[in-house]
Amino acid sequence: MILAIESSCDETSVALVCDGRVLSNRVSSQIRLHAEYGGVVPELATREHLRNLIPVTRAALDHAGARVEDLTAIAATRGPGLPAALLAGFTTASALACSLGLPLFGIHHHEAHLYSPWIWGDPPEAHFSEFEPHVSLIVSGGHTLLVHVQGELQHSVLGGTLDDAAGECFDKVAKLLQLPYPGGPVLDRLAGEGDPTVYRFPRPMLTDPGWEFSFSGLKTSVRYFLEKHPELASDPRALRNLCAGVQAAIVEVLGAKAVRAAGQLGVKCVTASGGVTCNRGLRADLERRCAKRGLRLRLADRMLCTDNAAMVGVLAERKFKAGVQPDDLDAPTRPGWALGEP
Ligand code: KG4
Ligand code: ZN
Repeated sequence: MILAIESSCDETSVALVCDGRVLSNRVSSQIRLHAEYGGVVPELATREHLRNLIPVTRAALDHAGARVEDLTAIAATRGPGLPAALLAGFTTASALACSLGLPLFGIHHHEAHLYSPWIWGDPPEAHFSEFEPHVSLIVSGGHTLLVHVQGELQHSVLGGTLDDAAGECFDKVAKLLQLPYPGGPVLDRLAGEGDPTVYRFPRPMLTDPGWEFSFSGLKTSVRYFLEKHPELASDPRALRNLCAGVQAAIVEVLGAKAVRAAGQLGVKCVTASGGVTCNRGLRADLERRCAKRGLRLRLADRMLCTDNAAMVGVLAERKFKAGVQPDDLDAPTRPGWALGEP
């Protein structure tokens, strides 16, 4: 039984995983704390992690009906992420591993996201028997990555964003439209009531032959548009159409590139994870594109799209079983760790 900790950004999460089954996955979100600042404040995030780590660990153990004596390994996100936030979770994990005499697995946050679409059911369980080569889209507030997953624990990054992440673009556009933080989910809701064809925004790098993304130009074009038509943001109907237009632009770039990559690499499956995978427009777009091309689509369960320790525990257990060496208990955290970097 593995106890896993995730604390790379603004969610303190602890999970217990045993034989691919997620026995508990407690998440304490800090969204409300950061809302008044319009973004994550690293210092506040760290304090909140420190306050929550032990109670959330206790709650995860209680929910699973487990005791620390039942544990066989400890895992925690080692990077990338906010430096002090990572330190809070990873140090707690090494302290637990040290005091219990257990191995410690330092997990790459993005690699953990890669495994979340393979966890489903109630209670949730990892379905590795269905694992197959695929293209994976990891889209959140901090990252936008397209990854070729050749097999379990085997992947190569195809491309990432050159500037803003997709979620960051959702959030920044939402801010321009004076929507509350975090803007992504609010924009999604309004977009669902709008017409995406009324206002058309650019689709950056859509037809570019590479696998990179760029979203800062899209945000800027919305800003220029609003400077020219300031009255639209306060007109409820125009606001909904604007949200729908922006969402359609972001979603088309993400969906089209992921599906094109699958075609070029000859894989039959596409997966998506990260907070932006909660977006209804993105889910529907990927479903439509994959169905058209006969690709299997695995979208992370909404509960597992955002940061959580279940995906960290599932990956750590896979590594443990595959004979991957655990980390030294004094291993440093890696805030700027790129996926694929040894
Ligand atoms: O994965 P996550 O919880 O945290 C990291 O950034 O790592 O993702 C949060 C991001 C935010 O930018 C948020 O606005 C976005 O995911 N997001 C959404 C939706 N739900 C969350 N963006 C668009 N539509 C949504 N429904
Ligand atoms: Zn994440």
